[in-house]
Amino acid sequence: MERSSDDIRRQVSEAYTKAVNTGCGCGPGCCGEPRQKGTPVQSAGYQASQLEALPADAVENSFGCGNPTAFSDLLPGETVLDLGCGAGIDLLLAAEKVGPEGRVIGVDMTDEMLDRARRNIAAAGYENIEVRQGYIEDLPVETGAVDVVISNCVVNLSPDKPRVFAEIARVMAPGGRLRISDLVAEGLPDWVRGDADLYSSCIAGAVSEQEYVEGLRSAGLQEVDIDERLVYDVVQLRELLGSELVEGGNGHKDELLQKAATELDGKVASVLVTGRKARP
Ligand SMILES: C[S@@+](CC[C@H](N)C(=O)[O-])C[C@H]1O[C@@H](n2cnc3c(N)ncnc32)[C@H](O)[C@@H]1O
Repeated sequence: MERSSDDIRRQVSEAYTKAVNTGCGCGPGCCGEPRQKGTPVQSAGYQASQLEALPADAVENSFGCGNPTAFSDLLPGETVLDLGCGAGIDLLLAAEKVGPEGRVIGVDMTDEMLDRARRNIAAAGYENIEVRQGYIEDLPVETGAVDVVISNCVVNLSPDKPRVFAEIARVMAPGGRLRISDLVAEGLPDWVRGDADLYSSCIAGAVSEQEYVEGLRSAGLQEVDIDERLVYDVVQLRELLGSELVEGGNGHKDELLQKAATELDGKVASVLVTGRKARP
């Protein structure tokens, strides 16, 4: 049976609430060394020097698949919007770049993530960041207010991507830039598309590069391009699926990891998507 958009978002939100609350972040079979809960930050492309100054909680609860602030050329004084800001890692990095004259807004639907983001912002001492609860399909942001839209591994989770693309175009100021890290996928088997855990793990809802680019162009953005691409191999897929987002009961996690190793190799990629809103 088809799940409604609300059902999908509820399930995704519950999965991330559970993931950030998983104590030491020690998943089945890994006990001993505590580990990163989401995607390891090095795999996502963050430099150690970038992370040193951040609250540990923001780094440990990072679930991104890229580093959108690294390639966004953020300028002092700009307004930045982070779609699905999670615990706030990219909010903090963006706030440093835009400085006290600039402004950073984070939107996320999950209470637990917003609470953590607020705590991490307070701990880091930034006063130019604000987080708002909401859906990326219906952004609680004024029209034309944003210079740069960033996002890290979130749009793939939306059950209505055309709506997200339209909202991105609406909130961007003329001349505004888009810098999104996300997962894309080609030729996924039906069992993957239908698996709720693989949806929350950012794989089952991922669309192709072509669909992504055409969706953004149809929403009215220009110069839409894929700037970088990292095709995931078996090791990287196991890392992604090994996070707390996949349930461990009844051997399901092991089974998924095994299947992923053989069937998803080369079909999933992390990309950097760029674009611009035309000036009138
Ligand atoms: C993979 S995590 C990424 C979090 C953060 N960007 C990072 O890099 O750590 C996905 C986040 O997007 C949020 N999210 C997923 N779908 C959403 C939607 N439709 N509207 C708003 N937030 C959403 C989740 O609550 C979660 O915090």
